[in-house]
Amino acid sequence: MPGTELFGAEERKEVNDVLETGILFRYGHDVQRNGHWKAKEFEAEVKKITGAKYAHAMSSGSTAVATALAAAGIGAGDEVIVPPFTFIATIEAVLFVGALPVFAEVDETLCLSADGIRKAITTKTKGVCLVHMCGGMADMDSIMQVVNEHKLILVEDAGQAFASSYKGTYTGLFGKAGSYSFDFFKIATAGEGGVLVTNDEDTYNIADCYSDHGHNHIGAKRGMEQHPVLGFNYRIGELNAAVGVAQTRRVPQIREVNRKYKQMLTELLSKTPGIGFATIADPKGDSATFLNILMETPEAALATVNEFNNSGVAGFDYWFLNMYHFINQWDHIKNMQTASKLTVELVGAPQDYNDLQLPKTQNVIGRLISFGIRCTWTEEDVQKLATNISACVRKALKQELV
Ligand SMILES: Cc1ncc(COP(=O)(O)O)c(C=O)c1O
Repeated sequence: MPGTELFGAEERKEVNDVLETGILFRYGHDVQRNGHWKAKEFEAEVKKITGAKYAHAMSSGSTAVATALAAAGIGAGDEVIVPPFTFIATIEAVLFVGALPVFAEVDETLCLSADGIRKAITTKTKGVCLVHMCGGMADMDSIMQVVNEHKLILVEDAGQAFASSYKGTYTGLFGKAGSYSFDFFKIATAGEGGVLVTNDEDTYNIADCYSDHGHNHIGAKRGMEQHPVLGFNYRIGELNAAVGVAQTRRVPQIREVNRKYKQMLTELLSKTPGIGFATIADPKGDSATFLNILMETPEAALATVNEFNNSGVAGFDYWFLNMYHFINQWDHIKNMQTASKLTVELVGAPQDYNDLQLPKTQNVIGRLISFGIRCTWTEEDVQKLATNISACVRKALKQELV
């Protein structure tokens, strides 16, 4: 989480550029801003890393995925296949554009599997909102096969996977549109921020208007711009974008260090019986923000987690019990506790959210323990962590056998 690890002169310089002019708004004020266009620079940095033709910075990863869905043409009454393991923003975005989430199975990549998608397809399926979880990536060859075969619209929520790629293509760029989060807990942070990417000009143009009340940003007078589509305010401010610029420039370096430490941890932990790892569909493209341990059974994982807690081992997530990342705890979706009526309540849910049959997902996420990789670790830190993890696993598995 570099925002908490690396924050210094570069970030201050970019923010000070904005503070000196006082132009906190991303559009217009060409003369007063003294050449500083931080949102545009942030977008340019994202394009440099991902190779995206178009990038559009927004207020959050949540608004970026919502905009990606809308710009891709997904809306009221459309069935959209989603994973039951993701940050809840993905599902909220689908619901709030009026679409109907259909939950499908994930596999050991921690992402939707092609087989899971195939089994969830109905005559009403419009698209897939694929989520690349925990810094990694889905198995894109098999997923693109099913997406193309069934002519589905693919939107990628790469909220946790900025700077990860699969066989040379960056996550977010396989489908119609993709999104990254730059909140405080990501490989790079803007404080709060998100970026939509696409290689499709029309999709970009819609996203650009949609995220700013429909403004098409043509001409010098804001109040006189055309509004080709209805939109809302999902704009990023220049201060957040300024932080995003400095942080995004750090990403290649962060990714390199993360990969080194993840590799070290993986090699050290591989020697401990009972420890396995999630599948990385393309190890060369891993952004390596997490080491994802897969224990042999959910019981072994839970015993290990208890042992971590008893022994003071910190820095891990056991997503199976997490309130925001796993469907088992999403009571507000299951019971449709909504502030006001959504399309899904009007037309009816496509599945019984209280009786979903997702045994593979339950098993994989039950076995998963993720450690965040820190680019400011030393090699000694990594050795020590590996020793502590191994000791806890050995103890937990012995207790489990008794
Ligand atoms: C997969 C995924 N999508 C979307 C988001 C939402 O991003 P933000 O917090 O920037 O709104 C997150 C945040 O954790 C995420 O992990």
